[in-house]
Amino acid sequence: MLIKSKKSWEMKESEATSEPVFLNRRALVKAIAAGAALGPGLTLGPKSLIAREIGAQFPAVKNPRYRIDRNVTPEKLVTSYNNFYEFGSHKEIASAAQALKIRPWRVIIDGLVNKEIELGVDDLFKKFQFEERLYRFRCVEAWSMVLPWTGFPLADLVKLAQPKTQAKFLIMQTFKNPEMARGQRQFWYPWPYQEALTLDEATNELAFIATGVFGKSIPKQMGAPLRLVVPWKYGFKSIKSIVRFTFTKKRPKTFWESVQPREYGFWANVNPAVDHPRWSQATERPLGGSGRIKTLLYNGYSSEVAGLYSNLKGEDLFK
Ligand code: MTE
Repeated sequence: MLIKSKKSWEMKESEATSEPVFLNRRALVKAIAAGAALGPGLTLGPKSLIAREIGAQFPAVKNPRYRIDRNVTPEKLVTSYNNFYEFGSHKEIASAAQALKIRPWRVIIDGLVNKEIELGVDDLFKKFQFEERLYRFRCVEAWSMVLPWTGFPLADLVKLAQPKTQAKFLIMQTFKNPEMARGQRQFWYPWPYQEALTLDEATNELAFIATGVFGKSIPKQMGAPLRLVVPWKYGFKSIKSIVRFTFTKKRPKTFWESVQPREYGFWANVNPAVDHPRWSQATERPLGGSGRIKTLLYNGYSSEVAGLYSNLKGEDLFK
């Protein structure tokens, strides 16, 4: 009914039924309007109604379409082993990142759009319906984790922005404030951090804007108040603490592509068969695990995303 086709990485249906029932958007809107029962097996208690209102973030409805056959990584590890170069070029930046001021936080949506938008982040959040998804996350440095993100599909933000037909790419930028973020005083980096997706990638069902993790607001070191999550790509594509979304015709240079083009490219799709110039990508080290596991093509999301690349010839898709 709601799970249309079973993907390689999805849980067995018998396992999924024990999870809170996920309602698709149409059912949700109807349900809220009617305040009523929804049909066989679907119930809507007062608590879940609150969680399903547009803009209400926690507790978010767990979307059973995005479950994983691996254990969730312990929260303590996830929140204490981070990459956020704005606060230092090592993994223990969690305490330095507490300097990040997350309110007020303005978000601009501009470029090739029908109407530019500039909003406070809380007003922006009021425009979306939140859900929780379990995703794999694979860093280019060959460590990985499994996380329950709360947020909304990036496709919903694209829809809100109403891009013009000429728009082909979506650029995302992090704040720039070297007073607050000492790492940005390292002048040899091209601040602000910038990432981009093709519009087809940005509207793929997996592309997600995360505002929470482990059922709470996303911690500062992980990219509060909103970040991208694109689980089929290496982690550096998942830009943190976004202040601007810009639609363009021309493909931009991204942060790591500018810093080290030989090693990091625009596409950065996970592929165990294509090594990084300095290390193998065949396996990965799950944080909190005891050894290494095999890395999967597109990080296990081939059935959702491989089609995005089938017609792209001569592109370096895997760095
Ligand atoms: N976004 C910004 N603005 N600055 C960064 O340094 N690092 C990237 C990505 N997003 C980074 C960023 C890299 S290299 C990775 S692996 C992930 O964030 C790490 O996310 P995590 O710390 O939440 O695990």
